[in-house]
Order: sequence, then structure tokens, then C-alpha cells
Amino acid sequence: MINRLKKLPKFYGPVLKTASSIAAGQGSSIYLVGGVVRDLFLNRDIFDLDIVVEGDAIALAEELASRLKAEFKKHHCFGTATVELKGYKLDFATSRKEYYSFPGALPKVSPASLGEDLFRRDFTINAMAISLNKKDYGRLIDIYNGVNDLKSGKIRVLHENSFMDDPTRILRAIRFEQRFSFMMDLKTSHLLREAINAKALTLVSPHRLRDEIILILKEAQPLKHIKRIDKLIGINFIHKDLKLKNDDYVFFKRAQGISSGYLKSFKTLRKQQYWIIYLSKILIRLSAKSLENLLHDYAFRKGERIIILSIKASLFKARKLKKPLKKSLIYRFLNPLSFEAILFFYVYYPDKIARENIDCFLKELVKTNLRIRGRDLTRLGLVPNILFGKVFEKLMHVKIDKGISTKKGEMIEALEIFRSLSRPKPD
Ligand code: CTP
Repeated sequence: MINRLKKLPKFYGPVLKTASSIAAGQGSSIYLVGGVVRDLFLNRDIFDLDIVVEGDAIALAEELASRLKAEFKKHHCFGTATVELKGYKLDFATSRKEYYSFPGALPKVSPASLGEDLFRRDFTINAMAISLNKKDYGRLIDIYNGVNDLKSGKIRVLHENSFMDDPTRILRAIRFEQRFSFMMDLKTSHLLREAINAKALTLVSPHRLRDEIILILKEAQPLKHIKRIDKLIGINFIHKDLKLKNDDYVFFKRAQGISSGYLKSFKTLRKQQYWIIYLSKILIRLSAKSLENLLHDYAFRKGERIIILSIKASLFKARKLKKPLKKSLIYRFLNPLSFEAILFFYVYYPDKIARENIDCFLKELVKTNLRIRGRDLTRLGLVPNILFGKVFEKLMHVKIDKGISTKKGEMIEALEIFRSLSRPKPD
């Protein structure tokens, strides 16, 4: 198993050795747990580590951070702490058991042994640990046969109440099943259906559901996750009026087909949250009011809400993208929109012309800037007033359509625009 630990990013090697010796000094035991152990077996890329401590996790993390001169954050109410350095992150938690007072509630936790900590987890493949203790450094602890399930491609809960205790596991089960192309074992699949029939997801707070929905839509191939959810649960678990239609699936398929190369070419351009494109397609059939309420109830971030609402609001206007347009018109429509909204329409309209229009904006127009500033207009003898804003806006459109590239050219146009805007309008 030591060899498996070697598959971690190199950075972690000495860090884990240091953590191990601090644990020994503090009389604690320390283990690597959860998804990281699973991913080591699956040879997947690993970024952050989850560490469980039989003992005081916060004290251990604090000492480690101080030795590494790393950033340290503690979360007292959860008994957890985070150590971050050079973009690498280690989450520390004291081993604990959980008690759910009712389905979907946040669990009450109390310190426990590693075995109990592993038993409270969702699936066997996520309930393995690797000892980081001096006496058996690198030993795999696989009490619930996670390795077997990994080998046979099985998602298996650890106990009968798993889905009812934490119904978000319904979505997690589907997510892992689809991500790894695994299958739920019969019992798990039966318990999952029971929990769905008992409407367990309605007991989960909207913001926890939101986090799970986002995780699903961030998967490499959201289409198969959505399909499976639609089949097993129905997308109306998000909102009673939601139903997926054939054109939604066509859209998801197209969205998935947009190459990551295409997206990366705009990386420096604007922030990208590609998952919003899928979510928008799922949600925009709701009425404007219902959509607004849903985004509010699920506590989506302000930026996310704006993007989704702007997509809905622009849907009608966006149809004109299907026709050849003057460049300034493309600019006027797309420039106020977020990158996600623009990509949404790129996926929504596969027509050649629509895509050429959007490409033109993303590859060319978005980089267009005016060379002149307000002070250049003042130097021409113009007195700053509210027209200046309008002058710049119009100048931008003229520059784009006429392809003006020099400062002098912009000055001449600006003067002309200023004069025409200042002229009294005929009655
Ligand atoms: N876990 C759980 N029940 C949940 C959420 C998490 O038992 N509802 C446990 C699992 O052991 C999981 C670990 O906490 O492996 C860490 O959770 P998380 O980071 O959400 O999952 P990962 O397994 O790391 O999944 P991913 O690869 O998607 O990050």
C-alpha cells in the first residue's frame, strides 16, 4: 500500500510523514480516508486529502500548519481543520459517529473509533482508510470490502438506513454509479427505490440539494447522470413543474460535445462555470416568477442567479443570432451577457450562422477596446456631460462596423457622433 501512497502528488509525501510524526507525539492515530483512498485504487488524479484523526484533529492540523508554514483554518463547530499550501489542501477531522434525529437532518456527531467513522459513510468504496501511523504506515483498512466492490464495480451502502439518514446519498449513489460506470448492488438499489418512494429528497434542505445538483452537473458527462436521475427519480424533485423533454436531451448532448479545447481557448477571457448551462436548460421552462423563487430558495449565488435569469430573459431576442448580423449588433446583444449565457446560446443554436456570429464575438469583438478616453474628448474642446457615455457606446459600434483601428480615426468619429447627438431633434 505504501506504493499506492506514492501515487499521490509528490508534495504530499513529506507532508504526510510530518503529520504522522506529529500524531505520534500527540498520542493520536491518523488515517487517510474516503474518496482519496478509492481514487488511489482507480488511478484517478488526486488533489485534496481527507484525513481522520483518532484524537484531536484540530491540534494536529495546527501543529502541521505551523511546521510547514502553511495556511491553517479551523471550523470549531465541526471539529475540523484545513491546512493549505501551494494550492494543495488537507482536511482534518476527528473520527466520529453520526446520529440523525430525522431523515435529512444534519447529523449530531460524537467522537468515535476509526471503525465507527468508516461505518457512518455512504458506500463501501468510500469507506476505506490507509494508516499513516508509524507502526503500519501505508496499511489498507478495508473493513467493509470496498476493494472488492471497486473490483466488481459495485455501489453498496453500509447499512439499511443510509439513504433515509442522508437522502443526498440518493444523488451521490447515482453520481458515483454513472461516473465510474458501476452498478448498485440489488440491496442498495432496492433501498434507493424505497427512499425515493418515501419522497426522502423532499426532506433535504434546498441548499444541500443545490450542492448535489451542481456536483452532478460538474461531472465530465452530465448527460448520463441526468438521464439516470430522470428515470429513477424524475427531475421534478427540483421543482414540481419540471419535466425533461426530448429537446433538453438533445441540448445536453450538444453541450457535452462542445470540446474542452474550444472552452479553454477562452479561459483568460471570462470566468467559466459550464454547469450553469445545463442547469439553465433544465430550469428555463419555469415561469419567470417560479424561476426567481427557486433560485432564491435554493440560495444560488447572486452571480449564478443573474446568469440563469439573463438566459431566460434573452431567449426570445437570441433568435436573431440565427441570421447574418452587422458586427455591432452581435456586440450589442452579446456583450452584456456572461460567458455562460453566450455559450448557452452557442449550444442552443447549432445553426452555422448563429455559431459564426457567436464565434465572431468571442474571438474578435470581445477584445475590441476604444483607444480614446474621456480626456481625449475634453482635449478636442468638448465639455464633459452625460452625452460622453453615449458617444463612447456609439463610437464602439461604429469602430466595430467600420473597422477603425487608429486613435485619430476614433477622434474624428467621436466628434461626429458628439455633434449629431448634441443637435436639437426636429419636432
Ligand atoms: N460522505 C458520506 N456521505 C455523504 C457525503 C460524504 O459518507 N453524504 C463521506 C464519504 O466517505 C466520502 C467522504 O465523506 O468519500 C468525502 O466526501 P466528498 O468529498 O463529498 O466525496 P468524495 O468521495 O471525495 O467524492 P468526489 O470524488 O466527488 O470528491
